[in-house]
Amino acid sequence: MGWEIANAIYRTDRSYAWNYGHAPTLPRTRRVPMGPGGLLFGQRLNSPLGIAAGPLLNSRWIEGYARLGFDVLTYATVRSRYHPAHVLPNIRHVDNREQSAVAARRHTNSNGSTTIAVSTGLPSMEPDVWRKDVRRAKERIGRGQMLIVSVVGTADPGADAEIFISDYARCAAWAAEAGADAVKVHLAVPTPLGEPGLFVYENIPLAAQILYRVRTTVAVPVLAKLGLFRSPRMLHETATKLAPWTSGFVLVHGIPRRVVDEEGHAAFEGAGREYADVVGGATFPTCSRQIAEMLAWRRAGAWPHAILGVGGLSTVARAQYVLGEGADAALVATAALFDPLFAVRFRQSLASAA
Ligand SMILES: Cc1cc2nc3c(=O)[nH]c(=O)nc-3n(C[C@H](O)[C@H](O)[C@H](O)COP(=O)(O)O)c2cc1C
Repeated sequence: MGWEIANAIYRTDRSYAWNYGHAPTLPRTRRVPMGPGGLLFGQRLNSPLGIAAGPLLNSRWIEGYARLGFDVLTYATVRSRYHPAHVLPNIRHVDNREQSAVAARRHTNSNGSTTIAVSTGLPSMEPDVWRKDVRRAKERIGRGQMLIVSVVGTADPGADAEIFISDYARCAAWAAEAGADAVKVHLAVPTPLGEPGLFVYENIPLAAQILYRVRTTVAVPVLAKLGLFRSPRMLHETATKLAPWTSGFVLVHGIPRRVVDEEGHAAFEGAGREYADVVGGATFPTCSRQIAEMLAWRRAGAWPHAILGVGGLSTVARAQYVLGEGADAALVATAALFDPLFAVRFRQSLASAA
């Protein structure tokens, strides 16, 4: 296509800090095809395609990808204090096998096959830095584009629930004040409250309190990021209990799996890193099923909330499928990392179909 994408792609062999400082340099001249339009929280969009929390580390990444035709842009999860990333590797290509995900030496990137395990530790810059930078991101996106900021609570070991809950609300308030069009509350994280193996969204009273506090603190729409559910019943029960305090749901975050190398050793070194989020192409069957379940509950009248589909949308056809089923937006993360022209192809396919 004649595009030059010098640094467009996230360097998995480099640290989070390196990638933070080396945003993509993308061409300014070529125009992306016109988007099909979209609507989210009453805001007009050029298209309902966007990027989930993760790949867009700061305003420069957001600006670069916004120019390439992604219209729902999520600022990677931020915290109320500086938090370093885990040591490298943070991302490994994996084969998703029965017992565990196995880090692969070789990998293919074609046709949506890219599947990775992510173990970043959810790094964040200091609030002073990201609050200014969110403002910049908002200034740099165009008309018909939306900025979502993802927030997570941070609690020291032994801290009580109240500290954790109010920490989420503090980040959300800062994000909204800095210009976020919506705040995404990241609930697909392990609870720090002494409940081994449990994610925040699986502790429904805790998740509801977090969302209630955020909802009553900010005026912008609030989205809840949810992970994998054990059953359709759990999905329904959780969404129904959280619905009063949220404007929409983003799912599926990823598939938590034990990640090992070919010899069976932990693929990510260090305490607490045995399990990681497996994301990308191979997760599509599982994730799309849960998105479909969520959409079915909405169609049945359970609640009218926005549903942003994510998880394994590694091809344009998959993104279109989820939108065709009724999702308000389709978000990609792995595809954005390895295939930055995804949105251009998404728009071209619609233009040629019209
Ligand atoms: C490198 C990377 C970093 C991520 N960081 C975050 C994050 O900071 N917050 C978050 O909620 N999700 C994070 N995610 C998860 C994505 O938002 C998304 O839920 C997941 O990757 C599934 O989408 P995919 O299959 O298109 O990759 C990250 C994903 C990747 C690949």
